[in-house]
Formats: sequence, C-alpha cells, structure tokens
Amino acid sequence: MNLKDLLLRMLPRGFRMALRRLRLKMISHRYRGLSASEVFSKIYQQGAWGDSGDSAQPFYSGTGSHDAVTVDTYVAALTSFLNSMGGKSTVLDVGCGDFNVGSRLREYCSSYLAADVVPSLIEYNRVKFAALQVDFRVLDIISERAPAVDVIFIRQVLQHLSNSQIQSAIANLRESCRFLVVTEHLPAGAGFQANLDKPAGPDIRSYIGSGVVLSLPPFSINAKSVRELCRVRDADGFIVTSVYEFSGG
Ligand SMILES: C[S@@+](CC[C@H](N)C(=O)[O-])C[C@H]1O[C@@H](n2cnc3c(N)ncnc32)[C@H](O)[C@@H]1O
Repeated sequence: MNLKDLLLRMLPRGFRMALRRLRLKMISHRYRGLSASEVFSKIYQQGAWGDSGDSAQPFYSGTGSHDAVTVDTYVAALTSFLNSMGGKSTVLDVGCGDFNVGSRLREYCSSYLAADVVPSLIEYNRVKFAALQVDFRVLDIISERAPAVDVIFIRQVLQHLSNSQIQSAIANLRESCRFLVVTEHLPAGAGFQANLDKPAGPDIRSYIGSGVVLSLPPFSINAKSVRELCRVRDADGFIVTSVYEFSGG
C-alpha cells in the first residue's frame, strides 16, 4: 500500500467515501460522451493504468495484469481448470489487453481468439505475439455478439464498464460459450454493496465500496453452476475469478 492509500485509510469512512465519489466524478468527466473504443484508447494513450517503463512496450493494462503473485495465481487456477476439461478447449479472451496474462494460457487451449475494443492494441499484439498463433480481433463486447467457443475469459474488463454496458455485454456473451470465466476486483470489509453503477472509465467500483457480482441484481445471471476458481489479495480487497457454467452452450 502506498502513502496516499495509507493516509486515506486514516480518515473517517464517511469522509473517505465522499472523497472517493468526488474523485470518481472527476475521472468520469474526462471520458464523458466517448464510445468504448475511444474511452479505452484514451486510457492507453495517457497511461492511465501506469506504464511498462519500457518505450518498446507502449501498452500497459495495469498492475492486475503484471503483479507476479496476482498473475501466477490466476494462471495456475486457469491451467488446472482448462486441463480438467478432458481435451483442449477453444477459447475467447474478451478484453485481452496487453496480453501479458493470456499469453501464458495459450498452450493449454486448442485455438485462442483474443479480442479488444482498442484497434491499435490489437495491431500491436498481432506483431508482438505472432509466434503464439493467436487470432487477435477488434471486438466491442457491448455491441457485438461473441464468436462461439467452449470457454470465454473476461478478466478485469466489466469492472470498468457501466451497468447498462455490462447488461449488453452479458447478452453478447451468454449464448456463445459453455463456460464463462469472470475476474473482478471486489473490495473487502463492511459496507460492501454489489453492482453500484458508474460510467465507463479507468477507475473501478472499489472507490465507492462496490464491485461487479454477476449473480446478483441487476444482472442476476442465470447459470447451471457458479464456482470460484481463485482469489488474490489486492490493495483494498480481492481479485476474484469465478466460472459460470451454462447448460445450452
Ligand atoms: C484492465 S484491462 C485487462 C486486460 C486483460 N484482460 C488482463 O487481465 O490483463 C481491460 C481491457 O478491457 C478492454 N475493454 C474494455 N471495454 C471493452 C469492450 N467493450 N469490448 C472489448 N474489450 C474491452 C480494454 O480495452 C482493456 O484492454
């Protein structure tokens, strides 16, 4: 935890939440009226999730995509899940980002389609990861139906979208797979309220004591089963990965 977070923690909860709401409002203002493609292109251009520290790597998807413990735990859980399927699966990675995470799962899948709403990022990944035989595509999951595969990963993507965008994304994902593997940041502690709304942007709902839980209203996703695959401690909570199984997929 950095000094700023530590000082923030020392403030009374009500004051802290008011400050965080204000910060969320200021951040959201910068992205108002932009399409999803424009919002996330701007986030990468401005390095709103940090940078790699290497000018040869112009795209950086944030610490959740690079922290060693976070990524290793996720890769171990997903490897074990994929290997339990009795044969390699066809996979779609929605919001693949800089592909630091997805690149480590490629060998456990029969085919790998990696999609993102940022066209320049997809072009860059095509060249950088050419040896991995990944089909990189531009796709906006808010407005486009996902291609049909066995398993879809959507990792730390929904947390950046508004509730109505998440509703549309679910509709576009729901019929396209048997297993939907969802990773979201959830803050810990008392006062947690699932699925509070926010506009699309680089920030997440933990600013307002919230996080995305698809099994709860207003999403209430209807699955045959839901199982947690892993959780990793993060600054103010956990990064949780769950798999939803659908009967018809
Ligand atoms: C925080 S990054 C996570 C990247 C990657 N999933 C990972 O875990 O390392 C979120 C990614 O979701 C992408 N994204 C956001 N909205 C999207 C949408 N509507 N359709 C497809 N990708 C989207 C962003 O461009 C960004 O690359």
